[in-house]
Amino acid sequence: MAENVQLGRRTVLRWLSASTVLGATAGVVACQQAPRIYDMQVSRDTGCPCCHVWTEIVQTTGRFRVTMIDAPDLPAFKRRLGVPAGLGSCHTALVESLVVEGHVPAEDILRLLDLRPAGVKGIAVPGMPRGSPGMEQPNGAVDPYEVVAFGADGSQSVFSRYTGSQ
Ligand code: CU
Ligand code: CU
Repeated sequence: MAENVQLGRRTVLRWLSASTVLGATAGVVACQQAPRIYDMQVSRDTGCPCCHVWTEIVQTTGRFRVTMIDAPDLPAFKRRLGVPAGLGSCHTALVESLVVEGHVPAEDILRLLDLRPAGVKGIAVPGMPRGSPGMEQPNGAVDPYEVVAFGADGSQSVFSRYTGSQ
């Protein structure tokens, strides 16, 4: 009985050291792989100042190569991409054929690219909530807002939720 326990412990120890080695090796491999960089096209309303601020914030992640386009008819462009009427904002980005509408936090874009949920055509932050990326206020005001996922069939669901400061 006592011997069995002893053997068991030794087996566990052997397994632990083996997995530690494996874990360390996996870590080294993961570190050597550079994170993927995505090409993104941002279409904006000509002269809108906040699109540029949002674009710069997104680029600070180092995960996007952004091209900015002044869209001659942004509403028509949004309709063509299937952005639901109620979800519109000031700029529309395309990355890997996915639509990113408005002041969406970069972490949500990266999560969308990781998950690629079935049926989801894009994500949007409707309007221009104060305190969303690119909409920072001098007084620090932050509105609560949601990132909404939308499908080609018009379906919508909450992708993430941000709480406001007031
Ligand atoms: Cu803008
Ligand atoms: Cu804006």
